[in-house]
Amino acid sequence: MMAATQDSNIHVPPKEVIERILSMELVRVTERAAVSAARWRGRGDEKAADQAAVDAMRRELNKLPIDGRIVIGEGERDEAPMLFIGEKVGNGSGPKVDIAVDPLEGTTLCAKDMPGAIAVMAMAPAGSLLYAPDVYMDKIAIGPGYAKGVVDLDATPIDNVQSLAKAKGVKPNEINVLILDRPRHAGLIEAVRSTGASVRLITDGDVAGVIFTAMQSFTGIDLYLGSGGAPEGVLAAAALRCVGGQMQGRLILDTQAKIDRARGMGVADPKRKYDMAELASDDVIVSATGVTDGALMHGVRFHGEVIETETIVYRSITGTVRRIHGEHRELAKFRLD
Ligand code: FBP
Repeated sequence: MMAATQDSNIHVPPKEVIERILSMELVRVTERAAVSAARWRGRGDEKAADQAAVDAMRRELNKLPIDGRIVIGEGERDEAPMLFIGEKVGNGSGPKVDIAVDPLEGTTLCAKDMPGAIAVMAMAPAGSLLYAPDVYMDKIAIGPGYAKGVVDLDATPIDNVQSLAKAKGVKPNEINVLILDRPRHAGLIEAVRSTGASVRLITDGDVAGVIFTAMQSFTGIDLYLGSGGAPEGVLAAAALRCVGGQMQGRLILDTQAKIDRARGMGVADPKRKYDMAELASDDVIVSATGVTDGALMHGVRFHGEVIETETIVYRSITGTVRRIHGEHRELAKFRLD
């Protein structure tokens, strides 16, 4: 049974109608989280900024007609009072969905008013986002247009750069690699540079870092390498699935306690290498709103009577990417966040 949309030539199954409508609802959720966090921009208080984003995101999520479960959240129940992994969200009336959230990705960036802080979330049918503890993840990502397997998490950084350069038809010194600037990456950075490739270091924000690979002509980034948060890994994989590209991730379960926690959440093999479609499968929708200005979108702008936001919404089933410019007047008047 098909439901007709306003355009009588287009017939969309009811499930899809719901999910299309929900895309717009997700925009509201990340917009509100971004506006709340942005009020704390540049105030040096990471916790307050994060809490503001979490409160707003949770409030908005609970208005949605979904039977949602947080699979990627602010941490585990004992350490996160809200939006913890396993928490139920939504008003319970709609489809069963998995929700991955990072209400403020780049808390330090926001506290210091530096570029690249975003509010981001993903939604997919229940069971289709990796249900995993809040640990680190080893990640590798490239944009679309390459044969499958041209890079691999288990290959050395040198092999990956050389193989990617060959596939691109350039010398390794024309490859640009994005890496989080952390002491743990010193060896990785050295290895990449030894090939002649250049390394762009970012202080935070590897969800956007992975997405940059899918916008190579704009960002100049060919390859993302290194370890960062597993939650950010799942969110990045969800976004990359929508626009094409390749990503692999492996949870870093380096203590027995982490292995046990992961096992309790269904991760049977602690060394498993996950492909992008295993991190985020089925019809996934991702929404990200800028908190501070960044390469992906501008940050929240307060103009007295109007608050402006910029959001990108990705949808895997159609590969559609929408940029939504929001002007919020009620929010500016009554501080509804
Ligand atoms: P937060 O917003 O939670 O601070 O995360 C920012 C971030 O840079 C992520 O993008 C990245 O995955 C993670 O931190 C890396 O963790 P660490 O700072 O411990 O190296």
